[in-house]
Amino acid sequence: MQEQFRETLALKEALKHFIEATEELNRSYTALKEEVKRLSEELSQQKNLLKAIIESINDGVIAINREETVIASNQKAKELFGIEDGKKIHTFLPNLEGELEFYTIDGERKVVKVSNFPLKQDGKEIGKVVVLRDITRERELEEENKRKERLSAMGEMAVTIAHEIRNPLGSIELFAGLIRKEGDPEVKRWAESITKVVKSINNLISNMLIFTRPLHVEKELLELKEVVEECAEAATHALREKGIELEIKGKAIRAWADRELLKQAILNLLINAIQAIEDRGSITVEVGERENEAFISVTDTGCGIPKEVQKKVFDPFFSTKKRGTGLGLAIVHRIVEAHHGRITLSSVPGRTTFTIYLPKDGEDSPRHSP
Ligand SMILES: Nc1ncnc2c1ncn2[C@@H]1O[C@H](COP(=O)(O)OP(=O)(O)OP(=O)(O)O)[C@@H](O)[C@H]1O
Ligand SMILES: [Mg+2]
Repeated sequence: MQEQFRETLALKEALKHFIEATEELNRSYTALKEEVKRLSEELSQQKNLLKAIIESINDGVIAINREETVIASNQKAKELFGIEDGKKIHTFLPNLEGELEFYTIDGERKVVKVSNFPLKQDGKEIGKVVVLRDITRERELEEENKRKERLSAMGEMAVTIAHEIRNPLGSIELFAGLIRKEGDPEVKRWAESITKVVKSINNLISNMLIFTRPLHVEKELLELKEVVEECAEAATHALREKGIELEIKGKAIRAWADRELLKQAILNLLINAIQAIEDRGSITVEVGERENEAFISVTDTGCGIPKEVQKKVFDPFFSTKKRGTGLGLAIVHRIVEAHHGRITLSSVPGRTTFTIYLPKDGEDSPRHSP
C-alpha cells in the first residue's frame, strides 16, 4: 500500500515536471515565434528600403547573374527598355557598355549611356549591375551649342556677303528702274524681270541678316492656339492643293512671345511639313505645356529626315530641295533662341515632329530682348 502511494507520488512529481517543461517549451516557442516575426518584419523593411533606394535612382538599374539573366531591375529600366526579370539581358540590350540611340514608338529620340559594374557578394563576383542613364537632354544641349557655334560663324560670313552684294544690287535696281521708264515695251518687260529678281535677292539677304543682327522681339501675352490658327489659315491654300488634313490639338495656353516672329516660325514649320508630304497625309499641330515650358509641336506624316541629315537641318543654306534656300529652319531657330526657348526634332520615316518650347516665365524677361 505504502509502495503504491510512493509510486503515485513519484508519478505526480514526474507529471508536474513534465507540465512545467511543456509550459517552458511553449514559452520558448512563443518567444521564438515572435523573434522570427520580428526578424522577418525587419528583413521585409530592409528589402523595402533597398527597393525604395533602387527605385529612387533616376537611372535604370539592372542586376544580372553570371548566366546574364536579369535577377532584379527598377521601374526606370523597365520604362527605358521594357526589361523583365527572369529574361536574358541580351534580349533587351545588345551591349552592356557604350551609348545607345533609338526612337520610342512615339518617335521620340532617346540617347542612353550604358555601363556595367561587377556585382559582388562576400567578395565573390556573382554577376553584374548594369546602369542605364538617359542622356537625351545633355546630348540635345551639346548639339544645340555646336549649332550655335556654326550659326555664329556663318552669321559673320553672311554680313560680309550681304554688304558686298547689296551695293551693286542697289545700282542694278536703280538702272532697271530707269530702263523701265524709258525703254520700248519688250525692254520694259526685261527690266521688270530684273527688278523682280533683285527683289528676291534682297529678300534672301534680309533673311540672311536675321542671323547676324539682334532680333527685335516685342513680347505680348499670346494665346498660342490662336496664333497657330492664324498660321493654319495662311497655309490653307497649300494644304488644300495637296489634300493634306490639318488637326490642331491641345488646350488653351498662353505664353509671352512676339506675335509676328512666332507666326513666322510656325509657318516655316508648317510649310516644311507640307513640302515633306508627297501626296495626301496629315499634319498635327499640338499646343501644350510641360513643367515650366509651353510648347507647340508640328508633326507630319511625310518622308522623314534621315539621321545624318538631322544634324544639319538648322544650318543656314542647308537644303535638300531643288528650290530651297535652306534658311527656313535656321530662321525658326533664331526666333526661338531670341525668345530664350528651344527647338527639338524627332523623325522616323512617316513621322516628323518639330517642337518649339517657350519658357513660361517669359513675362519676367525683358519685353525687348535681342
Ligand atoms: N518636316 C520635314 N520633313 C522632312 N524634311 C524636312 C522637314 N523639315 C525640314 N526638312 C529638311 O530640312 C531641310 C532644311 O529645311 P529649311 O526649312 O531650313 O530649308 P528648305 O525648306 O529646304 O528651304 P526654304 O525653307 O528656304 O524654302 C529641308 O531641305 C529638308 O531636307
Ligand atoms: Mg523650309
